[in-house]
Amino acid sequence: MKFFADTAEIDEINALNDAGLIDGVTTNPSLIKKSGRPFRDVISDICAALPGPVSAEVTALDADGMEAEGRSLAEIADNVTVKVPLTIDGLKACRRLSQDGIPVNVTLCFSANQALLAAKAGATFISPFIGRLDDIHLDGLQLIQEIRTIYDNYQFRTEILAASIRSANHIKDVALIGADVATAPPAVIMGLANHPLTDKGLDAFLKDWAATGQSVL
Ligand code: E4P
Repeated sequence: MKFFADTAEIDEINALNDAGLIDGVTTNPSLIKKSGRPFRDVISDICAALPGPVSAEVTALDADGMEAEGRSLAEIADNVTVKVPLTIDGLKACRRLSQDGIPVNVTLCFSANQALLAAKAGATFISPFIGRLDDIHLDGLQLIQEIRTIYDNYQFRTEILAASIRSANHIKDVALIGADVATAPPAVIMGLANHPLTDKGLDAFLKDWAATGQSVL
């Protein structure tokens, strides 16, 4: 399973990458706004920081505009993945870009039917937003399960990129279902390492070790 960092903050990305915890990055217009930096500079910096896929989102609403923006974004670096919304125009742009070998992440997916269309349009990634479904009392994990079943039924190669992840349990749950990728805020990825019994055990070991008066080196 791959982990992507859902952030536009280069320091957070470097910290995760240094720890060997991430395989790629996803951004969106809201994350770019939060960074306070020029979009292309952010994408260029992230792409230079790690070799994995870096999603950069188009903002045009028509297929021609999305295609033009996507081709331009893909020129920033070899590891750019163009992110398009799950609309009919987004699917058109996805097909055109994918046919030319530009990887596409189809985002804002909230139903299995939408995910089926994205796979048929040749998407490299489909991004179902599980947290936002949970927010309105629908079942985000059920959506991941449905997409997994449909893609497996027909051997679609589109990767399921579970997005809008809010907790460590979300990551465990999508891993159990078989999502190909989870994209999550850096704090959630780092938080996977936490367990109170690890802290308690380490504290006890170090106290006992200090009592021996020895040193490892
Ligand atoms: C994914 O690509 C999106 O950027 C992201 O996961 C959205 O998460 P949110 O619903 O927490 O904003």
